[in-house]
Amino acid sequence: MESNEIGRGAEATVYRTTYRNRNAVVKHREPKGYRHPDLDRHLRIARTKTEVRVMIDARAAGVRSPVVYDVDLEDGSITMEYLKGTSVKDALDEHPEDADVICTMIGQMIAKLHNGKICHGDLTTSNMIIDEHGNMCLIDFSLGDTRIGLEEMGVDIRLLERAFTSAHSTIEGAFHNVIEAYSKDMKQSKQVLAKVEEIKGRARYT
Ligand SMILES: Nc1ncnc2c1ncn2[C@@H]1O[C@H](COP(=O)(O)OP(=O)(O)O)[C@@H](O)[C@H]1O
Ligand SMILES: [Mg+2]
Repeated sequence: MESNEIGRGAEATVYRTTYRNRNAVVKHREPKGYRHPDLDRHLRIARTKTEVRVMIDARAAGVRSPVVYDVDLEDGSITMEYLKGTSVKDALDEHPEDADVICTMIGQMIAKLHNGKICHGDLTTSNMIIDEHGNMCLIDFSLGDTRIGLEEMGVDIRLLERAFTSAHSTIEGAFHNVIEAYSKDMKQSKQVLAKVEEIKGRARYT
């Protein structure tokens, strides 16, 4: 592992860097040798474009997420603001006594995202960072989309529920607190939560 590498997923590698003297990260989608070169290029360009578009729209909707500094589509790389802080996953593991406050912030953040007709696509507590000023931030928008409807919002909430069940099951009422805050701020929360029930019902019969 290179010394400045901070994350490696199935799709991309994330490195620390600087951009005009600012702390930054580069998220790079490497070519995949098992894909046909033309398809590979097409996919890396398309996914990089999507991630940038959703990240920029999320910021515009009031969700704290990294400022995009530079994009190189051919290289499949995005240079963005480095968010110094702790992942929400670690924060909840290390400070379960703060769960109420943290979960309220999560609910408020997702409400802003969904009010802006944006979905994230991979809502887990590993993709949320509490920055050094105590702000709740969202990263990793590669599975997100804009101008979405209730179905996509329902899927977002269902995925988050699963993430809480698998990662934070010991914290009593945590997900309930997320939903309470979300419901206060999200204009169509009733319809979204009805969708969540519908999605769960569908899953039971397939
Ligand atoms: N802007 C950022 N600031 C700080 N850390 C980041 C940033 N972007 C990514 N990371 C770190 O790199 C990890 C992987 O990045 P992410 O965008 O979530 O990619 P993946 O698709 O591999 O999950 C994150 O979990 C986080 O620890
Ligand atoms: Mg991630």
